Amino acid sequence: MIALVTGANRGIGREVARQLTGLGHTVAVAARSRDAAERTAAELGGPAVPVRLDVTSGEDVAAAVAEVEKRLGGLDVLVNNAAIHYDTWQNAATADLDVVREAAETNLYGPWRMAQAFLPLLRRSPSGRIVNVSSGIASLADMTGGAPAYTTTKVALNALTRMLADELRPDGILVNAVCPGWVATDMGGPGGRPVADGAAGIVWAATLPDDGPTGGFFRDRRPVAW
Ligand SMILES: NC(=O)c1ccc[n+]([C@@H]2O[C@H](COP(=O)([O-])OP(=O)(O)OC[C@H]3O[C@@H](n4cnc5c(N)ncnc54)[C@H](OP(=O)(O)O)[C@@H]3O)[C@@H](O)[C@H]2O)c1
Repeated sequence: MIALVTGANRGIGREVARQLTGLGHTVAVAARSRDAAERTAAELGGPAVPVRLDVTSGEDVAAAVAEVEKRLGGLDVLVNNAAIHYDTWQNAATADLDVVREAAETNLYGPWRMAQAFLPLLRRSPSGRIVNVSSGIASLADMTGGAPAYTTTKVALNALTRMLADELRPDGILVNAVCPGWVATDMGGPGGRPVADGAAGIVWAATLPDDGPTGGFFRDRRPVAW
């Protein structure tokens, strides 16, 4: 199986890439910096190829599709992991909308752009999968105030997950959103759980069997309320 992970140079994305290569899967290690992508792919020790990719750039994404097709021959799994602006410093009532817009470019339009661009390759796969890394903070069921850029863009990512899951069902492509829980990374800060635990649920969704769920929102393999 061939997977691409965005933001794979650190944090949860790096650990997802590590676990996937550990299972024998080939991973396209996508990072904003070519150096970081190369270093990470080399460090993983498994079958991995570096891909330079900023998810906000249509040009980068198109080039990545061509590179993945040329070097790996196709793609089975897209893991949309990259995200920014966990803006705990602001509230919806007074939020800087430029920050919200910037968050949307990476957290919503990034995964959307990636899904659209890689769809031709995913459709060719006998077992296409898209995993959108979301957050329990985006659960409307118990939504509270705060971190508005991050929260609203993850809510929209969840909506995109539902729509793509429905539209791609006839192609056999399973599309799910996964919350990794609170994880000790640069974004999560100290105190969260180990990256291995956060990554495990994402790897599970990336390697679902053909009769696995689609259009779901999961944490640790269990459904989370939308
Ligand atoms: N940590 C938590 O507690 C937690 C909780 C719930 C959900 N999540 C979600 O889990 C995912 C991973 O989070 P994390 O904690 O590992 O975050 P992180 O440590 O901040 O790492 C974020 C990664 O995304 C990359 N990235 C940012 N903008 C990008 C762009 N425009 N194009 C490509 N890559 C980009 C970063 O690359 P650079 O190194 O170049 O900056 C980095 O590799 C995110 O979707 C996050 O929302 C995390």
